[in-house]
Amino acid sequence: PVFKGLTPSTLAAVADKMWAEQHLAGDEIIRQGDAGDRFYLIRHGEAEVLVDEGDGPRRVALLTPGMCFGEMALIDGLPRSATALAATDCKLAAVSEKRFLRLIEQTPRFALQVMRVITERLRRRDPAA
Ligand code: CMP
Repeated sequence: PVFKGLTPSTLAAVADKMWAEQHLAGDEIIRQGDAGDRFYLIRHGEAEVLVDEGDGPRRVALLTPGMCFGEMALIDGLPRSATALAATDCKLAAVSEKRFLRLIEQTPRFALQVMRVITERLRRRDPAA
């Protein structure tokens, strides 16, 4: 959970800057290769992450409520690294790139949580891949 450890006032400040989005099962939320402009948090439902390295899409993760995605392209400015599809009908909270980067700068606990998410994904990567 990316908001774990935030104080209630920080949490309120963050939530205030986010908007709600709904997606139907099967919707493409992020497309690999596109430019990134938003960061997402899953409130309800599940999203799957697919990576295509030229040999067809491969599922690398199933994300559940409390988990987030879309941070990578905002942090390094490169295209989206993967496609994210709504695996079920989903309710998401989204935040713009600008606000996401400001949150990282102004909220060390939030920044640390995002680092934990990235670290966990790195550890779980298939060493043979
Ligand atoms: P971004 O590259 O902005 O857009 C696609 C997102 O999918 C990426 O950010 C991560 O949030 C997520 N993602 C990419 N690779 C993985 C992975 N191996 N496991 C889980 N999530 C991933």
